[in-house]
Amino acid sequence: MVTRRAVVTGASTGIGEATVRNLRARGWEVVGVARRAERLQTLVDEVGASAIACDLTDADAVDSLLAELEESGPVHALVQVAGGARGTERVEDASIADWQWMYDVNVLATQRLVAGILPQLRRAAESDGHADAVFVTSTAAQIAYPGGSGYNAAKAAESMLVKVLRQELNGEPIRVVEVAPGMVHTEEFTLNRLGGDSLAAEAVYAGVEEPLNAHDVADVIGYALDAPGHVNLDLITMRPVAQSAQHLLARGPLRVRGGEG
Ligand SMILES: NC(=O)c1ccc[n+]([C@@H]2O[C@H](COP(=O)([O-])OP(=O)(O)OC[C@H]3O[C@@H](n4cnc5c(N)ncnc54)[C@H](OP(=O)(O)O)[C@@H]3O)[C@@H](O)[C@H]2O)c1
Repeated sequence: MVTRRAVVTGASTGIGEATVRNLRARGWEVVGVARRAERLQTLVDEVGASAIACDLTDADAVDSLLAELEESGPVHALVQVAGGARGTERVEDASIADWQWMYDVNVLATQRLVAGILPQLRRAAESDGHADAVFVTSTAAQIAYPGGSGYNAAKAAESMLVKVLRQELNGEPIRVVEVAPGMVHTEEFTLNRLGGDSLAAEAVYAGVEEPLNAHDVADVIGYALDAPGHVNLDLITMRPVAQSAQHLLARGPLRVRGGEG
């Protein structure tokens, strides 16, 4: 039985960190990638993953990452989680710098990583039956909302990249999986989006009964990777029960209607 090795980006916190933990618990070898080496080291110490610090928007750094991966063993799965949002301004007021950052990290970094790592995925698929590329996009890739503009645009672009990739790899034993979460309460995502304003960030989740958490998403990623090799979960859209649609978020406890006689 081959021990499979996954490269998980965004591993220093949130969904990526939870995915490293989930895959380790499922018996995968895992290489966690993010910029903050000290946070990665904690994960290495706690769950026995390995880690490589890398800024995925830096082409030279990604080349070094790919060389290090190549030397250290096969790559059976890429799990591209790194990404994020900046700003909630209307299109007419948006900051070009924020849009540039979102495009760089969500879209261009994804293309760079895919292009660089595909030869390693192909080798693993050749020797061990199949390989995987999993991408965490967002429901923001599917539905526009006021103030979503730059993030909507970047995540939609990333989602299109994923759909194109799946078709271009048709005929090869490489699965391409897209996980599109709605509201996930992670430590940093909304805080970063709102420029570090912790009160505003908490208000986003106020009263919502059980937003998704990082482990909910990680569990779905782990399930998709451990599914039989011929099963490709193309697109998994997941939301908390309280969020029936992008614009339809229940605040306050969930209650059965008409059940009190
Ligand atoms: N939270 C949500 O509500 C939600 C919903 C739907 C989709 N998503 C998507 O899910 C993914 C993860 O979300 P999250 O909530 O876990 O986000 P998060 O807590 O903000 O974590 C983002 C991760 O990306 C890494 N990262 C950012 N820029 C990077 C760069 N240039 N190079 C390498 N790594 C970089 C960060 O690590 P370093 O800072 O250490 O580099 C961090 O590990 C993102 O793609 C996000 O768009 C989130």
